[in-house]
Amino acid sequence: MLSGEADIIANMANLAALLQEEMGFWWTGFYRVEGEELILGPFQGPIACTRIAYGRGVCGTAWKEQRTIVVPDVEQFPGHIACSAASRSEIVVPVWHKSMIVAVLDIDSKEIGTFDDVDKAYLEKMAALVIGPQKDIWFAAGCFWGAQKFFKLVDGVEFTEVGFCNGRLANPTYEQVYTDTTGHAECVHVRYNPSVVSLQHLTELFFKIIDPLSLNKQGEDVGTRYRTGVYYDNTQDARVLSEVFHKTKQALGVEDFPVELLPLECFYPADEYHQDYLDKNPTGYCHLSPAIFKLAAEK
Ligand code: SME
Repeated sequence: MLSGEADIIANMANLAALLQEEMGFWWTGFYRVEGEELILGPFQGPIACTRIAYGRGVCGTAWKEQRTIVVPDVEQFPGHIACSAASRSEIVVPVWHKSMIVAVLDIDSKEIGTFDDVDKAYLEKMAALVIGPQKDIWFAAGCFWGAQKFFKLVDGVEFTEVGFCNGRLANPTYEQVYTDTTGHAECVHVRYNPSVVSLQHLTELFFKIIDPLSLNKQGEDVGTRYRTGVYYDNTQDARVLSEVFHKTKQALGVEDFPVELLPLECFYPADEYHQDYLDKNPTGYCHLSPAIFKLAAEK
């Protein structure tokens, strides 16, 4: 039901409706983390409190202690917040996204002792689904115009955006990065569905559009801003990427090459002018040959 939808609010709304309708709970819904408090999100059931502070109630405690809390009898839980006097037992499940709790799923029952460890196990799996399947990776492949056009053609890529990564200046302009003194690399942020395309495949494609042996120069573009690299946001991806890097070096018969493999430190989108540039300017400059774009469609 949730696959294919990336919007977390839409997914929360449908998951709350499904659980409430099918299971006949008293109240099923989400509270979203906003700064220091939880704010009421999509829910089914009677009206509820809108804001819960960090560490308060069952919801705030589940957030603070970073764990699911099963409450067999709400009267026995110190600090329980009674949005409705009819609620007798409760379960609160954190929703994780990239090592952070971004929301909690809260379910109330009119009966005592409704929830157990089986509910905990399956509700944790369901709560994780609201995040949607997308993953993110950032590729620096020389001039970002061609790199964006290339990755947009890959099946399973759902969103791309060009910008500047891993430099020292916040919110740099294209002109500032162009001075080659800010430390940023031109790169393309690629958001993809991992059940359609793998990180390994995307990275193998990346190596087909760069010269991995060339330092700070791709095509006619020269400068540290045109360096090549892959930038990740989680350690699991780092392991997959290391493997692809290792195999690529072996295939090239080299010990090392100047392609960076680093955690993403920062990313600032470039101006609208640079987004989808080659779609808007089909005859615009691109260091990639027209033939190379055919590779993007290869499985
Ligand atoms: N009982 C919750 C408050 C939210 S309502 O149940 C909808 C709590 O103690 O955090």
